[in-house]
Amino acid sequence: MNPPSDPTAMNTCQSASGTPPGTAAIYRNFGLVEAPGSSPCYAEWTLGISEDPQVLELIDTLPAPKRQPNLVLAAARLLGAPIGSYAGFRSFLLQHWSSIRDIALARSTQTNEAGRCAALLPVLASIAEAEGKPLALIEAGASAGLCLFPDKFSYQYDGGPRLDPAGGPGAAVLECTTTGNVPIPHAIPEIGWRSGIDLNPLDVKSPEDAAWLEALVWPEQEFRRRRLRAALEVARLDPPRLIAGDVNEHIEALVRSAPEDCAVVVFHSAVLPYMPQHSREQFVEAMHRLPCHWISNEGSGVLPQNEAGGVLPEVAGRLADLKSEAKGRFILALDGQPLALTGPHGQSLQWLG
Ligand SMILES: C[S@@+](CC[C@H](N)C(=O)[O-])C[C@H]1O[C@@H](n2cnc3c(N)ncnc32)[C@H](O)[C@@H]1O
Repeated sequence: MNPPSDPTAMNTCQSASGTPPGTAAIYRNFGLVEAPGSSPCYAEWTLGISEDPQVLELIDTLPAPKRQPNLVLAAARLLGAPIGSYAGFRSFLLQHWSSIRDIALARSTQTNEAGRCAALLPVLASIAEAEGKPLALIEAGASAGLCLFPDKFSYQYDGGPRLDPAGGPGAAVLECTTTGNVPIPHAIPEIGWRSGIDLNPLDVKSPEDAAWLEALVWPEQEFRRRRLRAALEVARLDPPRLIAGDVNEHIEALVRSAPEDCAVVVFHSAVLPYMPQHSREQFVEAMHRLPCHWISNEGSGVLPQNEAGGVLPEVAGRLADLKSEAKGRFILALDGQPLALTGPHGQSLQWLG
């Protein structure tokens, strides 16, 4: 399976025949469906590319998984592609194609969004309260591990009172709007231990990795770039322990190595779309078997694949109810039970009654 152009993308553009869509169709879908609300610039560029045979031909020289709009556009922006019209972008791309290609081949879409901590926090807090222990956090598919620091941010739900870490204001205020009976926490849970796994962990101390993470944030989303920088600052003070490798190879040993005086929580967001079906099934089996709580925050686009094979069977059972509401959002689930629909960057939480 090719991963989506961006894990926040819920709508895969499968052709009616079920064959994988061509590059023009992928870019057209990105320009019409995925980008417009968030990035008019990316919408214009991808629609331009979808009708530009010369540029499509270049992109098609990349292996299929590397043709994703988010990857190609981020590679161009890393090199300084000017934010503006498609004409300007096009001439930059043609001029710098060889370097853009090298970056696209070397890198992958590893967007790390600390804002997702706002969606995770109510569940983390309820686990900590029920267990009466600090949490040992393990993130599967951690990228640079920025979501491993939920205790270092401040939170504001629905513009209400700000919830700060014990020591004072956090590195950034994560704002989140809510609907339904969200159990808004009164305190930020203590994190006693944190670790993660990633196929290619990014190093918070590496300027190159930080620049790549910035390039992955879409052009108009300055507030996300500021948040990313703040999260990187926090993580650099005490870099998370990240294991390089496949989540299925390392998850069991990591869960079993967590301190006994902590409640172990494995969580992941925007990762399942990158894993082939058999790996997802293996991972879900491990989550049911290992002594840990399991929080999943994944795009609803992952769900249709459950119908074919069953990744989160409990969620799949409610698919019909959730399908239209869930479009464009993630599903937050605890131990396979859906709890909420979340904004893909943690900006909203709709609790399911
Ligand atoms: C889009 S990023 C999401 C990062 C982070 N979870 C977040 O929400 O900000 C997806 C990450 O999953 C990692 N990944 C994908 N498949 C994986 C696997 N089988 N094992 C470990 N990591 C994986 C990728 O390398 C990438 O860093």
